[in-house]
Amino acid sequence: MRTPIIAGNWKMNKTIAEAHELVTAMQNDLAQIANRGVEIVLCPPFVSIPEVFSLLKGTPIRTGAQNLFWEPKGAFTGEVSGPMLHGLCDYVIVGHSERRQYFGETDEGVNRKIKAAFSQELFPIVCVGESLAQYEAGQTASFVGGQVRAAFQGLSDADARRTVVAYEPIWAIGTGRASSGPEANAVIGESIRGVLAGLYGKETADAIRVQYGGSVNPKNIAEFLEQPEIDGALVGGASLVASDFIAICRAAAIKT
Ligand code: PGA
Repeated sequence: MRTPIIAGNWKMNKTIAEAHELVTAMQNDLAQIANRGVEIVLCPPFVSIPEVFSLLKGTPIRTGAQNLFWEPKGAFTGEVSGPMLHGLCDYVIVGHSERRQYFGETDEGVNRKIKAAFSQELFPIVCVGESLAQYEAGQTASFVGGQVRAAFQGLSDADARRTVVAYEPIWAIGTGRASSGPEANAVIGESIRGVLAGLYGKETADAIRVQYGGSVNPKNIAEFLEQPEIDGALVGGASLVASDFIAICRAAAIKT
């Protein structure tokens, strides 16, 4: 039995004051849902992490970062490291398609970031997913499978089990064109859990949680959570609206 996990990826949205307001509006409802067995993670921009972390202290709601650099410190202008996030976050999103697309992140860099996260007791939420061109060319399975293999390169069985994978088809992110439950379920079963079973065996693959992401909203969330391979969602736009994010998290209670 895998614990469902809903994460809100705020991306580059909300000032510190706005972050305070959004968390305050959601935290009582989210805490109740989390107490029923749904893991809930809020991933604000770096500058708001201390504020969100202190608001959520003593609640079952967790904090996450949207990125980290793999080196612990040094001359890497503009970057934030694992040791700086240690103690402030439980999770960190790694390899989001926007980072791969706009900031040149590679599969190798993603793998280094995952290892850097584990070295600081941060659990990675690793994003994979194909472009529209790859989807239309029928390359989804091979591309996503390759991203999964590269991400898990050299990870121990114990760390693999603690990794969360987010399957986010790029064509579904921020477009309002979500994948369908059955289609996402098939990709996750074949190209994510299937590949992980090849690397670590079925028992470990069955323990690893996989989220769907891409235009998730309160109306379509149930269709994804009904799928046996889908353990939760990585939510962008809808995580910025308190009532929408609460409704999405509440829907995940069917998995508990
Ligand atoms: P979206 O973003 O929900 O706004 O499509 C999802 C994501 O990029 O994680």
